[in-house]
Amino acid sequence: MVDPPRTPADDPGSPQAPAPTRVPLASLGLGRTPGVPPAPPALVDGHRRPIHYLRLSVTDRCSFRCVYCMPTDGVSFVPRAEVLTYEEMVVLVRCFVALGIHRIRLTGGEPLLRRDLPRLVRALAAIDGVDDLAMTTNGYALAPLAGTLREAGLRRLNISIDTLDAARFARITRTGTLDRVLDGIDAACAAGFGPIKLNAVIVRGFNDDELVPLVRFAAARGAVMRFIEYMPIGVDGFWTDERFMATDAMLERLGDAFAIEDPVGYGPSAGIAGEGPAVYRDLTPRGGGAPTRVGFISAVSHGFCSTCNRVRMTAVGTLQECLAHPGQLSLRDALRAGADEDTLTRMIADALWDKSSGHAFAPTGGGRVMQTMSVTGG
Ligand code: GTP
Ligand code: 5AD
Ligand code: SF4
Repeated sequence: MVDPPRTPADDPGSPQAPAPTRVPLASLGLGRTPGVPPAPPALVDGHRRPIHYLRLSVTDRCSFRCVYCMPTDGVSFVPRAEVLTYEEMVVLVRCFVALGIHRIRLTGGEPLLRRDLPRLVRALAAIDGVDDLAMTTNGYALAPLAGTLREAGLRRLNISIDTLDAARFARITRTGTLDRVLDGIDAACAAGFGPIKLNAVIVRGFNDDELVPLVRFAAARGAVMRFIEYMPIGVDGFWTDERFMATDAMLERLGDAFAIEDPVGYGPSAGIAGEGPAVYRDLTPRGGGAPTRVGFISAVSHGFCSTCNRVRMTAVGTLQECLAHPGQLSLRDALRAGADEDTLTRMIADALWDKSSGHAFAPTGGGRVMQTMSVTGG
């Protein structure tokens, strides 16, 4: 079962794609005449991939210690002084936007651990050129903040929920309680975020028996369920080949309860807001009832690096061009040393030209990445 390219015409890996040309910085609006609108920017990396999506990690701290992500203890977090201030983030996001980035997703760690996050949301929403502002959260601190975040300008929310069983939830997250996340999901629905996406990383032997209940849970709330293949990233010693479950095996399991259609495509072609790597399919309950659209993020079994559209910035302001490769460029240091926005923008464009072609994850744990998702931002 091969996933379709986003669209054949704009799959940058396709042979019909234009040869890569280094983006002329003048066309990115750098040094442009005041009052004259810039040419539509188009940032392309050295592998012909248009880049327009920034995942901005606002903290490396997390309220949970998920078994597949972090060790129980001995986790060290960066000192606060090293983390970007909101003001610094806004300056740097303006530089990304000058390069044509127009989708921003706040991540962590857990972004809601950052004090007064609505203040950052308000500032980012006000940047001309940002037309999609989203967040990925573990939902634990969401209930009291959902309405304020929405008013501040946050438009989309993805919430992680790996299990619907309270005892299992406590076991997987080590520090979390399921009830609070369920309250967060309800509050997000009530605040008018739509559609809310629910993310579950499926680890065989931990939660693979919950595929069907999770689909029903999301459908009952008008949310979109997405299943993520466990990637060989994060805490050492948890990965075993047996724990990996490929999307095809998930589909087989889901097939007992649902008739499963062929893939409808990625976000825009599937009519689902957002532009991440999930491929959506319609699942119709075998006992009768309306179909529900479910996403599958198959990074290991059906890699999607050839259509990657994103770049990351860690909480300490390091540009991380690819999830699978630690970043080298400290935009924070350059900013704190006095670099102006044009200089920073050029530094980003240059670094993105050298973005890696992708990861080497394998179902046997190959291509392992030690930097945890809490640092990378998922
Ligand atoms: P939208 O489609 O815009 O809603 O966002 P998204 O699905 O990209 O965001 P989300 O934070 O919900 O991502 C869900 C999961 O997809 C992440 O936790 C990662 O496991 C995986 N993922 C997201 N982006 C990448 C990527 O660039 N590479 C890989 N390998 N996995 C990714
Ligand atoms: N594989 C897949 N997803 C992961 N996440 C954390 N570690 C991994 C991994 N090894 C997910 C979390 C959350 C998001 C931030 O990243 O479950 O959904
Ligand atoms: Fe993009 Fe790297 Fe993720 Fe592949 S692993 S999709 S190249 S960020």
